[in-house]
Amino acid sequence: MDINREQWGSKIGFVLAAAGSAVGLGNIWKFPYLVGENGGAAFVLLYLLCVVLVGLPVVIAEILIGRTTQKNPVGSFRELSKGNPFWMFIGGLGVLTGFLILSYYNVIAGWSLGYVVESLKGSFQNLENPAAAGELFNQLSSRPQWTLLFHGMFMMLTVSIIYAGVAKGIERASKIMMPALLILIIILVIRGITLNGASAGIHYLLKVDFSVITGKTFFLALGQAFFSLSLGMGALLTYGSYMSKKDSIPISALNIVLLDTLIALLAGFMIFPAVFAMGMQPAQGPSLIFNILPIVFNSIPAGYIFRIIFFILLTVAALTSTISLLEVITAFVVDEFQFERKKAAIVLGIIVFVIGIPSALSFCGWQNVMIFGLTCFDFVDFISANIFLPLGGIFIALFVGWFWGTKNSVPHLLEGTVKFPVFLVSTWSILIRFVAPVLILLIFLSSIGIL
Ligand code: TRP
Repeated sequence: MDINREQWGSKIGFVLAAAGSAVGLGNIWKFPYLVGENGGAAFVLLYLLCVVLVGLPVVIAEILIGRTTQKNPVGSFRELSKGNPFWMFIGGLGVLTGFLILSYYNVIAGWSLGYVVESLKGSFQNLENPAAAGELFNQLSSRPQWTLLFHGMFMMLTVSIIYAGVAKGIERASKIMMPALLILIIILVIRGITLNGASAGIHYLLKVDFSVITGKTFFLALGQAFFSLSLGMGALLTYGSYMSKKDSIPISALNIVLLDTLIALLAGFMIFPAVFAMGMQPAQGPSLIFNILPIVFNSIPAGYIFRIIFFILLTVAALTSTISLLEVITAFVVDEFQFERKKAAIVLGIIVFVIGIPSALSFCGWQNVMIFGLTCFDFVDFISANIFLPLGGIFIALFVGWFWGTKNSVPHLLEGTVKFPVFLVSTWSILIRFVAPVLILLIFLSSIGIL
């Protein structure tokens, strides 16, 4: 064991930082727009199934690998597989996926930072309806200077926190901001569901229409579960590598998954009642929350202030996620190539910024640049969230369940857990060995029309 490796400052430090990674734009920006494009409650139901049957067991497996080896993804697989190149490649795939996700995620994070500035300027004060807000959104996002400026600024924010180190930077930011975000979302939910005509939105989120479920819906729900839980590329593995062996993995994992799911569901209840109350269509794509929320604040007392606070908190939620992505890449470079941490953070930040430029331009100028019929943004989003993350998930499950094996891994799992019921351990073993890999595979096959 490397006694010099930094660890979280407290037990709650790990859960908060991992939850900070999980809770982000995925919950508040992406989950609602996917729900809106894929049939409401039916999507929510499939999402929850994916979280319980695949998400939670793989979250446990990923943290377990990291805490046991206390290494980055590649180093972890190297150690546990005794240098097997295939498994090291899987770790490497995770690092690559981290690069890709961060590159486009940072663009949307930049938008939310830009919306802090617009809120301060009072740009939304006199807008009457979401259509007007949509127009403003189009104006802003179609200016390359605007998008690139905030893309760059956000990357600088992320780099500066990684620069400061794990416990000091990440932990401190998460501890204050997460509870504040939760409170503000609850205020917005209450406002949303008390608007005239909001009940149609509640209905939309709760009444499952089974006829809209297809292989594709399942596939998108699975990708979203991985994305939202920060799963499948070694982010939780890397965070787990700083976790103390005195803390309980299953309990921490459960807390992270519950919090992430709660915030996604609340985000749904924050958006859709308002969407229906304002007579808008749910299927608006990535601009959904940027069109709806600024207007909701106009019907709240002191909405100007609350709007500013909300976009600040959204920005921070995005920041605790981008930090986790950059941390994976940084830990890899620092551990594997003996790079100095601070230098690594800066160099990697610049590289990711550059890789993100085509995604940023997908909304301003490069709308017609297509890869397999998708814009650069949609393409990078698709291959990373929908293909690479679930693929990483299959291999993490197979690795822990079969290659390393539950017999060898369970003792490490139980370290730090007092009296864990045996039936829960065997349930986890079944989920990780059989259910998770088979379900992911079936969903993959059905999405390409083989099933
Ligand atoms: N889970 C975050 C969100 O929902 C995004 C994120 C952070 C992520 N780290 C990740 C996604 C690692 C996949 C892998 O906003």
